[in-house]
Amino acid sequence: MTSHRDPRPTQYHRRNKAAQCATAAGVSMRARMRFPAWVALLAFGAMVHGAVHAAPHGAGAARTTGFDDGWRFQRGDIVGAEQPGYPDGLWQRLRLPHDWAIDGPYSQAHGPHMGGLPTFGVAWYRKSFPTSPQWRGQRVGVEFDGVMSHSTVYLNGQRLGGRPNGYIGFAIDLTGALRHDGRPNVLAVRLAPEYASSRWYPGAGIYRHVWLEVTAPVHLARWGTFVSTPQVDAARATVAAQVEVANESARDAALELRLRLLDPAGHEAAAARVPLQVAAGAVATANASLAVAGPALWAPDHPDLYSLVTEVWRGNERLDREATPFGIRRIELTHDRGVLVNGVALRLHGVCLHHDLGALGTAVNRRAIERRLEILKRAGVNAIRTSHNPPAPELLDAADRLGLLVLDEAFDAWRRAKVPNDYSKDFDAWSAADLTDQVRRDRNHPSVFMWSIGNEIPEQADEDGWREARRLSGIVHASDATRPTTSAFDHPDGAMAHHLVDEVDVPGFNYSPHLYAQIAADHPGWIFYGSETASCVSSRGVYHLPIEKYEKHPSLQLSSYDIIAPYWAYCPDFDFEAEARTPAVLGGFVWTGFDYIGEPTPYFGGDGDDSHDWPAHSSYFGMVDLAGFPKDRYYLYQSVWTSAPMVHVLPHWNWPGHEGQPIPVMAYSNAEEVELFLNGRSLGRQRVGGKAIELPAGRKVAPDGVMHTRYRLLWQVPYEPGTLRAVAFRDGREVARDEVRTAGPAARIALSVDRARIAADGDDLAFVTARIEDEHGVLVPDAANEIHFAVQGAGDVAAVDNGDATSLEPFHADHRHAFNGLAQLIVRARAGRGGPIRVQASADGLAGGAVSLESR
Ligand code: GAL
Repeated sequence: MTSHRDPRPTQYHRRNKAAQCATAAGVSMRARMRFPAWVALLAFGAMVHGAVHAAPHGAGAARTTGFDDGWRFQRGDIVGAEQPGYPDGLWQRLRLPHDWAIDGPYSQAHGPHMGGLPTFGVAWYRKSFPTSPQWRGQRVGVEFDGVMSHSTVYLNGQRLGGRPNGYIGFAIDLTGALRHDGRPNVLAVRLAPEYASSRWYPGAGIYRHVWLEVTAPVHLARWGTFVSTPQVDAARATVAAQVEVANESARDAALELRLRLLDPAGHEAAAARVPLQVAAGAVATANASLAVAGPALWAPDHPDLYSLVTEVWRGNERLDREATPFGIRRIELTHDRGVLVNGVALRLHGVCLHHDLGALGTAVNRRAIERRLEILKRAGVNAIRTSHNPPAPELLDAADRLGLLVLDEAFDAWRRAKVPNDYSKDFDAWSAADLTDQVRRDRNHPSVFMWSIGNEIPEQADEDGWREARRLSGIVHASDATRPTTSAFDHPDGAMAHHLVDEVDVPGFNYSPHLYAQIAADHPGWIFYGSETASCVSSRGVYHLPIEKYEKHPSLQLSSYDIIAPYWAYCPDFDFEAEARTPAVLGGFVWTGFDYIGEPTPYFGGDGDDSHDWPAHSSYFGMVDLAGFPKDRYYLYQSVWTSAPMVHVLPHWNWPGHEGQPIPVMAYSNAEEVELFLNGRSLGRQRVGGKAIELPAGRKVAPDGVMHTRYRLLWQVPYEPGTLRAVAFRDGREVARDEVRTAGPAARIALSVDRARIAADGDDLAFVTARIEDEHGVLVPDAANEIHFAVQGAGDVAAVDNGDATSLEPFHADHRHAFNGLAQLIVRARAGRGGPIRVQASADGLAGGAVSLESR
């Protein structure tokens, strides 16, 4: 296996950002633009839809069973591995989903922008399974939710298909290649992901779930059911179901479709029967309209889900059945009131998320995804942008359940490459199929509210860039005319001059809060949003004094005073202000919600410098670190995005050697006033949103390099050890408080767990936090002790982490150094065997900690 470093990623990145900087100030809105089609559509009335999920994740999908168990895996390009007789007895046994790269080893040669992990090279998976006698005369297929990447699938040595794109699900028909002579079948999958295929950590392997699908020759078409809700109000909703049936038999079929709508409690809310003729070898579509009285609407704060049960009958024989969740809701995008969900206005408080799950790598896990969304929701996040690829189905399921909106994105590159081996190599051959499949797979999720055809696409710079945008928007609308298309433009001038903005329904602009007011003034009636905002960088628990703006800190850690951002980006304050001033902006998506593996900006190229500052290998952009521990910035967003009273104070209060010197103290709060106390003495009360404070800033927005912000409170506090307390007031009454205390020497480990009970399904996870405390229970803010974990009972160690973007300790281990006082253990429940799980933690010189939970 060869590996090499390729400087192109950094060059593109730099060029691209430079182009943005060069043109940003000069945006003149020269181009005369039509109103985006979406604006026109909205003028005529509500955009409305609901959804059915025809993929195997819906309830009652008996035709589909999990196919994750009993696989074998081996890296290397192995001759003959597709042959059923190939001896794979020494290969690693495993259960999917599986990301081979996350186990390391780390190496700078693997590309820090891809996480420094071995994400490329050929590898094989094999699985042997018997043919069931019940499969005679049936169609048998295998469905992959996503394989990273460039897969080729063989059954019994016969090549049947595959997919270059690692983020898209695909199905392979096994029927003709099955053995019916008693010998087992062998499914073999060859993967060939390349180096420099991505600007972030893509993972590697069969990292999403696999399903076996058995149907009659006449069956519901894959992703062929589409439900929309063309009319929704509190009294009544109309649910429109469009159902495709495929006839893979040799005879024409006279069928009846039976549809039942089940309400959130499982009671029938409506039903319909539709006759359908399907010629042999054809696919036919049936349409039905169902009325629901007094519908329970899907909305962010009560995400009620219905289910559509679709059955295919021929005479008295039921040929197929699928049941899938969907939501009844109406979403409108307005140019003055933001997003209306069932008429209720909201601003997009969104975050961008990459798909890796930190220590678990990219191997999909339902609970890990759900936990991320729960943490983000508590900061007031109401929307997710799946940057820059179609997400795992589990993310959309979780967003449906939790009431989050999703901007479902397709591509980071079209025909022009950003990195040498990215999607541009496959774009011509596969973009139509990939995009169509994405929309057909995801169009029934109530959470999905827009389709993005691309992020920062280099074709913005091309005269004819609009052609591709038009083609892709058309592909989306052919499968879903109810939702708008968008694209994230980082080069507004180019996107306008070359008419890409005209070819999507709603343009998104990356890093452009300084342009919002002008765009709104020049284009009255336009609807747009910040597809990427902020890109502030920090390391949890790190504070550098004095507060100053720098590009890189030699420690490879970045201050959490929340003012450091690369030159193309901003601190959150700019976005808050620009959005508040410009009602036409729907809101935005912060880059990013969580830290992710790869792209360790600013320690990765940038600004005339091609070097990588190894071992920095994961990002610093998150408002939450890689392990899921919130950084200070999380609370800055919470203070603007939520109303339940809160206050957060920073930094920590351990500054030996600084006695008597002023330490900058910040408070983030959504109350009216905050009073700061040091050891019981008031240091003054300040009005939230009152006097602007001055902080160092980038030059892009503030030519003098100074940022004026009303979103934070600041005190200069002469240091003395003790307790620093922030007390928040509304109407003169205390409503919240937060404090930091000077910690003594590290004395013990305190363990806590996110849930006391998990499911004994072999998949569910418990997230255990290890906190290093002094003898009084105060967090030791710089503790870095090595912690050893032991798990007993019905669970096992899944992974460990600490949120340190420079750590080269393996994730798959039972020990980890704390990073600024915290470390994490992820415990996986054993399958089938419930019972207590006891976790213990120990470290040299510290009293150990323990926590128990229950698996059922
Ligand atoms: C954007 C890009 C993201 C990420 C981000 C970092 O330009 O779309 O993928 O690279 O910059 O600031």
